[in-house]
Amino acid sequence: MRMEATVGGSALRLIQGDIVTMRVDAIVNAANSGLAGGGGVDGAVHRAGGPAIAAACRAIGRCPTGGAVITGAGDLPARYVIHAVAPVYDDGLSGEPGLLRSGYAASMALAEQHCLASVAFPSLGTGAYRYPVRDAARVALEAVIGQLRGETGLREVTFVLFSAADLRVYGEVLERLLPAGS
Ligand code: AR6
Repeated sequence: MRMEATVGGSALRLIQGDIVTMRVDAIVNAANSGLAGGGGVDGAVHRAGGPAIAAACRAIGRCPTGGAVITGAGDLPARYVIHAVAPVYDDGLSGEPGLLRSGYAASMALAEQHCLASVAFPSLGTGAYRYPVRDAARVALEAVIGQLRGETGLREVTFVLFSAADLRVYGEVLERLLPAGS
């Protein structure tokens, strides 16, 4: 298992925790296309962030699957919330990997546009949307590693995994992608 790596001079970290507590430039929310709130990460973000986030989401309206939008962070310690929409997992052959990758890419593109240096992601898609966590971890980590290897203002990307089991899976996948000593 590997819990941190330096990629292109930036830090990539895996931790277990609650993403709403993160004091970073932006946390990423696991949203739905209606930006309507819900359970999981989305429920926690709106509960802890207060009504300003929902108001900002209403003003934006919708976000396609594989897309992302950015709002303020209300009462959260982060500065912004990036709302990303993962696909609902069906059979894995219905474009899910591309749409999940796109959700990560759109989130990082917004972070770059806003000159943000630190971003925290949850495991998009792997809760209510049922994306298998090991497959999702590979998509997520490949997307972030690719971004950090290119031209980027991101200095620190943290994955905040809710369970010890998910942290372990992400750690194993990171080790495969970036073997220790590589
Ligand atoms: N911090 C970090 N991770 C969390 C937290 C938290 N506070 N809470 C849950 N997780 P999900 P999705 C983990 O369902 O699959 C919502 O209703 C969770 O254990 O939040 O993309 C939205 O409104 C899981 O590993 O997101 C959408 O309708 C991961 O975060 C839909 O669910 C993602 O689970 C989005 O589903």
